[in-house]
Amino acid sequence: METRPAASEDNELKLQRLLELSNVGGGADRVQKQHEAGKKTARERIMLLLDAGSFTEVDRFVTHRCTEFGMNKQKVYGDGVITGYGTIGGRKVFAFSQDFTVFGGSLSETYAQKICKIMDLALKVGAPVIGLNDSGGARIQEGIASLAGYAEIFLRNTLASGVIPQISAIMGPCAGGAVYSPAITDFVFMVRQTSHMFVTGPDVIRTVTHEEVTKEQLGGADTHASTSGVAQFACDSEEACLLMIRELLGYIPGNNSEGPPFVPTSDPVDREDASLDGLIPKNPNKPYDIKTLIRSVVDDGRFFEVAESFAPNILTGFARLGGNSVGIVANQPDVLAGCLDINASVKAARFVRFLDAFNIPIVTFVDVPGFLPGTTQEYGGIIRHGAKLLYAYCEATVPKVTVITRKAYGGAYDVMSSKHIRGDFNFAYPTAEIAVMGPEGAVNVIFRKEIASALDPEVKRKELVQNYRARFANPFYAAELGYVDEIIYPGQTRQKLITALSYLENKRDLNPPKKHGNIPL
Ligand code: HXC
Repeated sequence: METRPAASEDNELKLQRLLELSNVGGGADRVQKQHEAGKKTARERIMLLLDAGSFTEVDRFVTHRCTEFGMNKQKVYGDGVITGYGTIGGRKVFAFSQDFTVFGGSLSETYAQKICKIMDLALKVGAPVIGLNDSGGARIQEGIASLAGYAEIFLRNTLASGVIPQISAIMGPCAGGAVYSPAITDFVFMVRQTSHMFVTGPDVIRTVTHEEVTKEQLGGADTHASTSGVAQFACDSEEACLLMIRELLGYIPGNNSEGPPFVPTSDPVDREDASLDGLIPKNPNKPYDIKTLIRSVVDDGRFFEVAESFAPNILTGFARLGGNSVGIVANQPDVLAGCLDINASVKAARFVRFLDAFNIPIVTFVDVPGFLPGTTQEYGGIIRHGAKLLYAYCEATVPKVTVITRKAYGGAYDVMSSKHIRGDFNFAYPTAEIAVMGPEGAVNVIFRKEIASALDPEVKRKELVQNYRARFANPFYAAELGYVDEIIYPGQTRQKLITALSYLENKRDLNPPKKHGNIPL
């Protein structure tokens, strides 16, 4: 660790020397160790994240104030975190990058103050905050002052939630209570093999529960992106991670009083795709990939998927339609027949709330046979969790356009941005089946006696199913009632969506004044 410059030094020389000192972090050996571990330094990451030459660092001469354990002899300029501001795609952002080469990136009182300073500034000017995490947690030598620092950050994460976008990348260890700052932010990125998040690590787990688990199994990128849902993105490298953050920012506004950026496209707004007319299988039990529809409809086929590996029975992600950013939520018939289960409900609810907070219109593609049945789901609280998605859609006041491609059954029909919960434009394909339940289930309930007493119950059942399907399992009954605004051909979807969204451009809708609602958490 470096010592302070002599007081008698000429100030310009001193500045030069301090600048050089503050560049080296924990020193060449530790930087080498960082590289050998397959990780970049905090400064290298910031440079990759931000537009070239745009970064301005603040507080680079800050040092800690701890005197315990001989710490007064170990001071490093910057104190283990690089903070500042710059641009991504020409738009303002604030960022901090934890420097593992300085006391393992551990958080001291002054380190926390540096982060809080840029969070406060970001909130005042209305720009996103991006945190690059690589830290051994609370700086042990500082004890409770470090815990206080974390709490100051958690408070700011919470107050900034829904006002400015907050993005976290985990690029090394992130353990104990430290995980709760990223957890409050809007999106969490992780890097395979080199990043880990857990409340308690493998050693503690071995002692307490006698379970054997590796760091990667417990809290690696794939675990959190596909099993726990803590992370939305698992990346193969730090470069890929930082590039994805840049791309994500292109879809979202700087704050909650702005709209998302417009990106001109050469993809014609009236482009039709006749191949979509054959996408939905005639057999209602046959799956298909809803991504084919999404990619065909959006600008240039680009769908930026969020939480791709978690609850893949529902898709969430960003795209553009006629240059305007939209959030897409879609049931995926290819996985669990597109059923809503606990994870799908929570995943989509959180995404819908992000979109609503940041003025991004919601496009919903519906093909949902209902909520997933079973004791695992019921005991796990599907009622409570399913209610989150319902609540999120109900409270959302951004433009909401819905396309029912096939099944929209029961409560799931209501949930998935139906007309009744303020869907602005609700379209259905001719293949749509909008009903209380599937024909088989329905006739078994309402015609049980007729089927049982028929000469041939199976023939009778089939006949009744056919009748039910003709009457209710289609879009026409819903269209008669005005629950569907228009029955459209799949090939026209892009142009219908773009026109609908253009009419909704100046949509204003309000919820009753309140301190906040009580979403069923
Ligand atoms: C001070 C720390 C530190 C910490 C690491 N270092 N963690 N210094 N406080 N929390 C220092 C080490 O002393 C070492 O210094 C350097 O950082 C690198 O650490 P290594 O152990 O050599 O690195 P590695 O083998 O890669 O292991 C990394 C690690 C390990 C897994 C993070 O260091 C570790 O387990 N650290 C302790 C983690 C921990 O218990 N944190 C407190 C958790 S409680 P030198 O000088 O040798 O380079 C917590 C509460 C938060 O965080 C509550 C919020 C509400």
